[in-house]
Amino acid sequence: MPTMRINQGAAFMAAAASTLLGGGAQAAVDLGWYPPNATVINSLAQVLNGTDIYGFVYNSSSVPDSVYGTYNWCNMPHVRATEYQKPSAEYQLQYVEVIHRHHKRTVYASNAFPVESYGWDCDDEGLFYYGQPKDGRKSAHTYWQGYTSPENPFVPSGFLGSCQFPQITAGGLDDSWQHGKDLYGVYHDLLGFLPNNTQEKATFRVTQNVITSEVAGMVINGMFGTEANYPLLIQASGIDSLEPAYSCAVSSNLFSDITSSTNWQSHLTAASTLYSTLDDISGVDPTDSGFHASFDHYYDNLSARQCHAKPLPCKLVNGVNSTTCVTQSIANEVYRMGNWEYSYKYRDDSRSLAASATSYGVWVGELTTHIRDFISGKSNVIWRHNVAHDGSISRLLSVLQIDVMVWPGMGSEVVFELYKKDNATTTATAPAAPSNSTASGSSGYFIRVLWAGQVLRSSNPSLGLMDMVPLETVLAYFDGLVGVGANLVHGKCNGTVAV
Ligand SMILES: *[C@@H]1O[C@H](CO)[C@@H](O)[C@H](O)[C@H]1NC(C)=O
Ligand SMILES: *[C@@H]1O[C@H](CO)[C@@H](O)[C@H](O)[C@H]1NC(C)=O
Ligand SMILES: *[C@@H]1O[C@H](CO)[C@@H](O)[C@H](O)[C@H]1NC(C)=O
Ligand SMILES: *[C@@H]1O[C@H](CO)[C@@H](O)[C@H](O)[C@H]1NC(C)=O
Ligand SMILES: *[C@@H]1O[C@H](CO)[C@@H](O)[C@H](O)[C@H]1NC(C)=O
Ligand SMILES: *[C@@H]1O[C@H](CO)[C@@H](O)[C@H](O)[C@H]1NC(C)=O
Ligand SMILES: *[C@@H]1O[C@H](CO)[C@@H](O)[C@H](O)[C@H]1NC(C)=O
Ligand SMILES: *[C@@H]1O[C@H](CO)[C@@H](O)[C@H](O)[C@H]1NC(C)=O
Ligand SMILES: *[C@@H]1O[C@H](CO)[C@@H](O)[C@H](O)[C@H]1NC(C)=O
Repeated sequence: MPTMRINQGAAFMAAAASTLLGGGAQAAVDLGWYPPNATVINSLAQVLNGTDIYGFVYNSSSVPDSVYGTYNWCNMPHVRATEYQKPSAEYQLQYVEVIHRHHKRTVYASNAFPVESYGWDCDDEGLFYYGQPKDGRKSAHTYWQGYTSPENPFVPSGFLGSCQFPQITAGGLDDSWQHGKDLYGVYHDLLGFLPNNTQEKATFRVTQNVITSEVAGMVINGMFGTEANYPLLIQASGIDSLEPAYSCAVSSNLFSDITSSTNWQSHLTAASTLYSTLDDISGVDPTDSGFHASFDHYYDNLSARQCHAKPLPCKLVNGVNSTTCVTQSIANEVYRMGNWEYSYKYRDDSRSLAASATSYGVWVGELTTHIRDFISGKSNVIWRHNVAHDGSISRLLSVLQIDVMVWPGMGSEVVFELYKKDNATTTATAPAAPSNSTASGSSGYFIRVLWAGQVLRSSNPSLGLMDMVPLETVLAYFDGLVGVGANLVHGKCNGTVAV
C-alpha cells in the first residue's frame, strides 16, 4: 500500500458539493499524490541491469489472442468484445468518453538520424486535403503526393522517401479502422448502447496535428461504415486542451524541475555508454540536446522502424552499411529507458501530479462538464471520442495516478464509462462507506475507467480500482484538482492560485 503523501494541508482533502447530484451530495476525497507500484519499469537498477523488455511487443501490430492485453508499442490493447467485462445487469451504461493515442506512424522529422540508410515510402495511401463549401460546388478528393526533387540541393538525407514526417502509415490506418470496429463491437453489438446511426449522439475530436484526423476518419468508418462527410471537433491552435497545447507556465516549470532532478540526471549519466554507441551508429552529434535530454528521439526512431518491420539501422560508412549496427539488445535497452522516463516523469516524481493536473486540467474539466451535462439533460451526446497523443494520455494517467506507468504506445486508450445503478438494488449492494472514499454514491451513478481494455487501478486510495467508483468521488477528485469545469486551471497555470 502507498505510504507517501504530498499536498498536505488545505488542499489535501476536498469536499465538493455538487448541485447536480441531488442537493449537495458531499464526497471527501484524498487529493494527495501516491507513488506507483515498485516494478522493473521504474527501478533504475533493474533497467540498467536488464536484458529483455518485459515481454512487451515492439515489432508487430498484432499479437495472438491468447496474449492480448500485453503491452504492444505498435498497437496497444484496447476495449474489444473478446476481453470486455460486462458489468452486472443492475448497472446501466449511460455515457462513454473515449480518449486514445493516434496509431502507428513514421517518425517525426526531429527524430530522424542525420544519415539514413533507407527512406520511408507512403505511396500506398493518400493524405486527403481539400476544402469544400457545405452548399455549392464540389471538390475533387485531392491528396498529397510527397516526392523528392533531384534538383533540390536542400533535401536532408533523413528525408528520403515520399512520406510526410510524421504521417500515419498504411498499417497505422488499418489499426485505426480495426480500433473503431472493435469499439463498435462492444458498445453497439454487445451492449446495444450505440444506436446504428450515432451522428447526433456521438462526437469526435482531434488535435491540430493532422495525424489525429488521419486516424479519426478510419476509426469512424470502422465504427459506422460510413464514407459520408463527418465533422471533427477541433480547438484553435495554441490553446487546444486535448493535445494539450495551451500554455501553462507552472506546469512547464514543474516538468522542467522533474527533468533536472538528480534522479533524472543520474539515468542519463548511467546511460553514457549506450548514448556513445547510438551516436556513433546514427551520426547524431553527441552534443545534440534533443537526442540527449531523454531517450525520446532514439526510442521513437528505433520503435517506428521495428513496428514497420524495417531493420534496425547500421552505421553508414561512405554511404554503405557497415556491420556496426543497432542490435535488438541495444534497442531493448532504449525501450527500458523510455519506459523508466515516462514512469519517472508522470508518476514517480511527486511533482508529476500537479504538473499534469495543470497542463491537462482543462480537458479533465471538459470531461466532468460532459458528464454533468448528460445527467442534467443539457446534452444528449452519449459518446465522445478523442484522438490524441502520448503527451495527452500520459498526463491523464498521471492525474488518475495509474499504479504502473508505461510509455503509452500507439492507440493507447482510456475509456470513462458512466453507469446508473438500478435504484431498487442500490441500498442493498452499494459498499457502505468503502475505506477508499466516504462517498455515499447517493446519486446512483458510478464510473468505471478502462485502460488498455481493463479496469484501471489508481494508487490514490480514493480512486483505487476504478470499477464502479461512485460518481461523487470521481467528481470530487477531479473538481478538487482542477475546479468545477476546470475553473481553477487558469489561475493554477499562471501562479495566482496555489497548485
Ligand atoms: C500494484 O499493486 C497493487 C497493490 O499491491 C496490486 O493490487 C496491483 O495488481 C499492482 N498493479 C499491477 C499492474 O501489478
Ligand atoms: C545485476 O545482475 C547481476 C547478475 O544477475 C546481479 O548479480 C546484480 O546484483 C544485479 N545488479 C543490480 C543493481 O540489480
Ligand atoms: C518479434 O519479437 C519477438 C521477440 O523478440 C520474436 O519472438 C518474434 O518472432 C518477432 N516477431 C516478428 C514479426 O518479427
Ligand atoms: C530514424 O532516423 C533516420 C535517419 O535520419 C530517418 O531516416 C528515419 O526516418 C528515422 N526513423 C524514425 C522512425 O524516426
Ligand atoms: C542498408 O541496409 C538496409 C537493411 O538491410 C537496407 O534496406 C538499405 O538499403 C541499406 N542501405 C545502403 C545504403 O546500403
Ligand atoms: C440496426 O441495424 C441492425 C442490422 O442492420 C438491424 O437489425 C436493427 O434493426 C437496426 N436497429 C435500429 C434501431 O435501426
Ligand atoms: C426507484 O425509482 C423509481 C422512479 O424514479 C421510483 O418510483 C421508485 O420509488 C424508486 N425506488 C426506490 C427503492 O427508491
Ligand atoms: C474503492 O472503492 C470502490 C467502490 O467504491 C471499490 O470497488 C474499490 O475496490 C475500492 N478500491 C480500493 C483500493 O479499496
Ligand atoms: C491568471 O488567471 C486568472 C484566472 O484565475 C485570470 O483571471 C488572470 O487574468 C490570469 N492572469 C494572467 C496574467 O494571465
